[in-house]
Amino acid sequence: MARRFTPDLRWSDVTPKADFLNRRQIIAGVAALGLAGPAAAKLGYVPSALSTDEKPNTLEEITNYNNFYEFGTDKGDPAARAGALTVDPWSVEIDGMVGRPGSYGLADILSGVTLEERIYRLRCVEAWSMVVPWIGFPLSDLLARVEVQPSARYVAFETLLRPEEMHGQRGGLLDWPYREGLRLDEATHPLTILATGLYGEAMPKQNGAPIRLVVPWKYGFKSIKSIVRISLTDRQPPTTWNMMQPNEYGFFANVNPEVDHPRWSQATERRIGEGLFAGRHPTVKFNGYGDQVAALYAGQDLAKDY
Ligand code: MTE
Repeated sequence: MARRFTPDLRWSDVTPKADFLNRRQIIAGVAALGLAGPAAAKLGYVPSALSTDEKPNTLEEITNYNNFYEFGTDKGDPAARAGALTVDPWSVEIDGMVGRPGSYGLADILSGVTLEERIYRLRCVEAWSMVVPWIGFPLSDLLARVEVQPSARYVAFETLLRPEEMHGQRGGLLDWPYREGLRLDEATHPLTILATGLYGEAMPKQNGAPIRLVVPWKYGFKSIKSIVRISLTDRQPPTTWNMMQPNEYGFFANVNPEVDHPRWSQATERRIGEGLFAGRHPTVKFNGYGDQVAALYAGQDLAKDY
């Protein structure tokens, strides 16, 4: 995948004027984060050389076409309903095979961290994709600080369980809380980030405020939102979609046009925002990040380990 260093790329350069203006209204709805001061405070960050050079989707698209089943199953539900979520105060429990377990406040997690803008594609298992200018930092930074023990082999993540605010959790659609996991070498890969914002602002609630995972070479369901727990373990952890439909959703979930979902092809994708008549794009293995990540799976049969 082509990459470029984008020192001068600002959201206003890549966002149509209407969205630029509309953005202010959307940002007004973004919750105040203690660490960032007022709701609309810009996050300081540096651009990352790991970005794709593709044109990002607009903020409007990124914040109005979402999967966040805690707020409903329609793509518009998270934008309509995630406003109910309280994201300040927020803490993340880090436990299991670590030298420094504990409950870490968000400000704690972000202290000393350099936030980077990483323009990554999110490629959903339902065969649509978006390019998002995330703001985040490598998960490996956090894991190093909590001193992962040598016996640890996997990282498990959990989303907040709060049915009073996440009305989707009042029903039994999924086995709440939403859970995901990565093998430790995947979790510590430099492309794997914890994102706390996008388009230079604190994370919109519908996108997983205040902190979520982004693993760009995997299908979007791996990129768990609104994380409250990170556990280090020596066993492959149970994960929400895999528990629900193991033949459809594997633990690895690497983007792979050669392995179809049992109910639809994964060979092409629709780019959100291109319109109904735009052609589909061929899906690239590992979402285009093969040069960086294929070595993680040397010797593994990815048709079996899907
Ligand atoms: N995390 C939680 N907690 N709940 C969810 O329903 N959906 C996943 C992922 N993370 C989901 C989640 C799926 S299927 C996708 S495609 C992405 O979030 C969508 O991220 P976006 O809405 O920011 O584009």
